[in-house]
Amino acid sequence: MKIAMIASEANPLAKSGGLADVVSALSEEYKKQGHEAIIVIPYYKSIDNKRPAGVEIKWLGRYGVDLGWRHLEAYGYGDDGERFAFFALASIRLLPFLEFAPDIIHVHDWQSAIIPTLLKERFHAESVYAHTHTVLTIHNPAFKGYLDPYFLNDFFGLSDDLFHSGRVRFEGQVSTLKAGIVDADKITTVSPTHREELLSESLSQGLCGILRLRENDFCGIVNGVDELEFDPKKDTRIALNFDAKNLVKGKEACRKDLLSSAEMKDNGGPIFGLVSRLTYQKGIDLILKAAHYTLDRGGNIIVLGSGEEGLENGLRYLQQFYPKQVHAHIGYSDDFAHKVYAGSDFFLMPSLFEPCGIGQLIAEKYGTLPVGRQTGGIADTVISYNGKNEDKANGFLFRDYDEGGLSYAMFEAEKVYKNKTLFHKLQRNALNTDNSWGSSAKLYLGIYEELNNRK
Ligand code: GLC
Repeated sequence: MKIAMIASEANPLAKSGGLADVVSALSEEYKKQGHEAIIVIPYYKSIDNKRPAGVEIKWLGRYGVDLGWRHLEAYGYGDDGERFAFFALASIRLLPFLEFAPDIIHVHDWQSAIIPTLLKERFHAESVYAHTHTVLTIHNPAFKGYLDPYFLNDFFGLSDDLFHSGRVRFEGQVSTLKAGIVDADKITTVSPTHREELLSESLSQGLCGILRLRENDFCGIVNGVDELEFDPKKDTRIALNFDAKNLVKGKEACRKDLLSSAEMKDNGGPIFGLVSRLTYQKGIDLILKAAHYTLDRGGNIIVLGSGEEGLENGLRYLQQFYPKQVHAHIGYSDDFAHKVYAGSDFFLMPSLFEPCGIGQLIAEKYGTLPVGRQTGGIADTVISYNGKNEDKANGFLFRDYDEGGLSYAMFEAEKVYKNKTLFHKLQRNALNTDNSWGSSAKLYLGIYEELNNRK
């Protein structure tokens, strides 16, 4: 099959979150399995500055894109309000320019979600799209892609009727995400539990009404981990490579290395690590509230991330208060991220909502037990220890989004940490969890094939 992935980001050129990992890892899997896959992302200015070694950028030519009455060249950028409208139209114009006739166009989140509507309404006569089917993946339902109704015609050349009839209207505005939900041939989100959440009144962030109409074309598929980047057996950024056999020794060496990078002395207590965007979605406020219980019992917390200023400052303050037990690295560093994954005992993931989540999957690979909230992909990928399931358990879950929930789960984790035989057993379970992309890619290909057979 010929597959075009259209998204706002992809590794290694542009990344703000897990979406970039998903887009590139899936495309690699498709190629491995004999399909032709291309990725379309905007040419951000930052790509020029941060181009990774070995990545070649080739000028392919120039083609015109009409954005309403504006005629732009597809090598520049529009101003902020128009950027992704331009990107959607430029992507649709790009494929004929490349003579790439896709069987599947797979769009991701609000930035490219209008494309299925554009294909149906405006570009169905383009010969390269004669056999194209579309798939939309929702990675983050919080972002609806709101636009002023006036843009529908002005930017996209679409009829205002689409707004008046309600097809692309959401809370009085145009929502590109809603357009995708209505018009894509299939819709997915990044875990089965998050699919259920999106179909429920209270957790769907307003989308359940429209998603229920598409329930039969909607499924949840969990993400995997990029094993080229995250593999404790081969990782060059960690102190000692390890697998299930030398797990205890490997974790010890990585712990020492992590503590020395964080300029902390080893007090023998458990290390709770966190690598995350510091936003309300990730439950950082709960960590700020619950931290002192663990810290007062001799635990340690090591954080890497950046985001909302209030949360960054809260973590800085926590470090000032407990300088020997807390390290908050505000910013980003790949090296330090790997050290946190490998050297921590537990990985905090108390998200308010989490469509899939990648941190807990990586942590498991490194034998680090997630302590997370039972929501979305966390619920699907962490088996919580319940006192009886030591053959399977690979982490700790709590349900209620409050300080009590998180501190309860951290306390359970600390108890297991003291029983080394049990602790090592759970670490091994985590390390042996299969979080590879192979099976998820097969599920996506199944959906593509089903659509392809409809021709
Ligand atoms: C978004 C979601 C996260 C998911 C990622 C990739 O960032 O918040 O849960 O893992 O997309 O699908």
